[in-house]
Amino acid sequence: MSVITVLIVLAGITFWKIANDPPVTTPVEFTAPFVFGRFQIPKDNPYTYESVKLGRRLFYDPLLSGNNEISCASCHKQELAFTDGLPRAIGASKRALPFNSMSLSNLMWGPRHFFWNGRVASLEQQALLPIQHVDEMDQDLDELMEELKQDDRYPVLFRNAYGRITPENTAKALASFQRSLISANSKYDKYLRGEISLSDQEEYGRKLFMAHPDTKVSLRGGNCIDCHSQFLTAGFATGFDGFSNNGLDDDEHLQDGLYAFTGNDAHRGLFKVPTLRNIAVTAPYMHDGRFASLEQVLEHYNSGIKMSQTLSPLIIEADNREKVDIQSVSLNLTETEMKAIIAFLHTLTDEDFLTNEDFSDPFNRGSDHD
Ligand code: HEC
Ligand code: HEC
Repeated sequence: MSVITVLIVLAGITFWKIANDPPVTTPVEFTAPFVFGRFQIPKDNPYTYESVKLGRRLFYDPLLSGNNEISCASCHKQELAFTDGLPRAIGASKRALPFNSMSLSNLMWGPRHFFWNGRVASLEQQALLPIQHVDEMDQDLDELMEELKQDDRYPVLFRNAYGRITPENTAKALASFQRSLISANSKYDKYLRGEISLSDQEEYGRKLFMAHPDTKVSLRGGNCIDCHSQFLTAGFATGFDGFSNNGLDDDEHLQDGLYAFTGNDAHRGLFKVPTLRNIAVTAPYMHDGRFASLEQVLEHYNSGIKMSQTLSPLIIEADNREKVDIQSVSLNLTETEMKAIIAFLHTLTDEDFLTNEDFSDPFNRGSDHD
């Protein structure tokens, strides 16, 4: 073999290595209250600065949609805790989707099932679905990969985060950015850290939120924490424990919910227990956006529960009257008690989260020139 040939082969190997070696990335350091419990990050998608940076740009980029008009952020707006203010979301087709857009925060914790009916098991799996859905972003993945390769920024951002531009890496980056959306600085968090105290009304509401009513010991309660669990105020993480039927519909009108995914009759009408963090800014409420205000939500729990085969026993048992009347399930709180619970729900608003520049649109600011 001539020297020239050897040099050409060596150059080829070097080039191949540069093109295929995994990039050098920096893990994100983050803090979260230990009361959130253990977090989940898949081993094959390390949580790095490079992936979050790429994911943030993708999240806000209308390039991801077929008509280049809709981004993830069209339906997930930061100032609304990543919801859109609509009863049911509207995307590329201008047809209302069956569901209310979901708030995105603290997604490293809580149920390992995403969407109102729990049909996907990870943020990575979730991310490519709205992109391809005809009613949401209506984009062909091959076309999107071409557009990303033609772009003047994405090739470098992908190279730094993962290596190649692929649908899988696109999904991974979107998942990483969404993991960075941590909300842990609300008035309630400051209260938990002992930095401030709650007003009398908020404190009264907090106690009612946490208590399961027990007339034997004259304990009044709203029973909310039974499902909106712990400090996350989201559903439980184990199995399908984070899904429940909170009495929105009777048997005749019961929607599929989790049943659509599991095919188990006992799961009909069960929906994901959503987080209540930042709930004061995410109206309208419930999977179909049927309630316009928190007052209406409280009215529902207090006196609007519909009986059905799968209604949660935690709701059936919760009654502040002396004798529980199974025929008409009702919490029977007073107006003052309901107002106090609503005041407590307002303490879950986290202004830092709603205005944190790290979560904001990188196309609006000069920030993406580093
Ligand atoms: C047209 C509006 C729309 C667009 C665009 C959209 N979403 Fe959503 N998003 C929704 C709706 C509606 C739901 C609830 C859907 C359901 O349960 O079937 C949702 C749910 C989610 C969830 C589940 C949250 C949970 O707690 O289970 C995640 C994560 C999410 N979206 C991320 C994204 C990402 C990433 C993009 C961009 C690639 C995106 N969304 C684009 C409307 C939208
Ligand atoms: C048995 C479990 C359970 C109990 C108890 C419960 N919830 Fe819920 N909550 C749910 C489920 C499930 C949903 C979503 C239902 C749907 O959309 O189909 C929900 C939805 C909500 C929503 C709307 C969230 C959104 O993003 O649209 C609010 C607000 C709410 N609950 C507040 C409360 C309050 C306040 C209490 C106590 C008075 C309470 N919940 C008690 C299970 C429960």
